[in-house]
Amino acid sequence: MKSSTKQGVKILSTGSAVPHMSLNNNQISDIVETSDDWISTRTGIKERRLLTGEQKSIIDLAIVASRNALDKISMNPSEIDLILLATSTPNDLFGSASQIQYKIGAINAVAFDLTAACSGFVLGLVTASQFIQTGSYNNILVIGADVLSKWVDWSDRGTCILFGDAAGAVILQSCPYVDNSILNFQFNTDGTYASHLSIPYKESHQPHVLLNIYQGSFHPIYMNGREVYKFAVSQVPLSIVKCLNALNMSTDDINWLLLHQANERILNAVADKLSIDNHKIIANLSKYGNTSAASIPLALDEALEEKKISDNDIVVIAGFGAGLTWGTIVVRWKELQLA
Ligand code: COA
Repeated sequence: MKSSTKQGVKILSTGSAVPHMSLNNNQISDIVETSDDWISTRTGIKERRLLTGEQKSIIDLAIVASRNALDKISMNPSEIDLILLATSTPNDLFGSASQIQYKIGAINAVAFDLTAACSGFVLGLVTASQFIQTGSYNNILVIGADVLSKWVDWSDRGTCILFGDAAGAVILQSCPYVDNSILNFQFNTDGTYASHLSIPYKESHQPHVLLNIYQGSFHPIYMNGREVYKFAVSQVPLSIVKCLNALNMSTDDINWLLLHQANERILNAVADKLSIDNHKIIANLSKYGNTSAASIPLALDEALEEKKISDNDIVVIAGFGAGLTWGTIVVRWKELQLA
């Protein structure tokens, strides 16, 4: 602990990475019985990127996204104090963050994984901001990355059409509290409905002959699409309103709505419920599908590249997904300090 006064948090830089290989809806219809029309109408997704090639993992994407964010501000990786990797698809159950720490040369950083599915990035951002606000760390790299293509059942048309692979990264830095960007957050979990969206671990039927220990393996993604849809459309607006109310703000104050990029119909339905104009929605899911923990930082990075977001804009960011876990962060955007 370096300081007893509360620090502010600013988002200093962003970066992202997507694999080269693109699979469009017509190509998916060669794999399962579906069509471009069905997928586009129900989800807004036109294509997704997939990580191909032997021994390619989430680490490869996360490294590119992280270097991208570091390069934009010419930051030396040794200046990073903490790396937080939000992912549900590590290539090691003990965690993948340490491999990123090693490979980008962040020699002074501690690194760990955080698992909260499609809400992983928003939870990661707030977790990191706590370390900054308490004065423990100055520079934190938060990565949202997932390669769900490795966990999809490519014969299940209800799920394989939805997901894509990507990584996004942000660098947070401490600043005077008056310049604080992360104005408020609001998070929720309801484990009652965990089985609606899961990559379940299933045990074998026979235990070890001597030890009575059951061992098993992880199975592909299972999803009850209708229930997940209803959950997102009903709960996300409530979380956003709660988070704004606590700041004495209203939905009229929102300049940009950045939701987890799951489905265009969910994005539009949430905006409609909150009477937010559709032109304030940040959306790129038609190109990438649902990239889980990567979707928000990827969309943020693209929106900044396109110069959509201006200084002092209010950006409402909301994540939702397996757990079920969901929540909102209200950000007052401060211009990136590009080198
Ligand atoms: N192509 C063609 N038909 C398909 C299909 C596909 N890819 N997937 C399902 N269908 C069929 C079903 O078999 C069903 O046929 P039936 O009526 O003959 O039984 C019909 O389409 C309707 O299926 P249903 O699952 O009820 O469709 P839906 O309208 O709920 O749309 C989703 C499915 C997945 C697009 C929708 O439920 C959804 O977007 N849910 C949220 C998913 C999500 O965002 N998850 C991640 C959250 S982080």
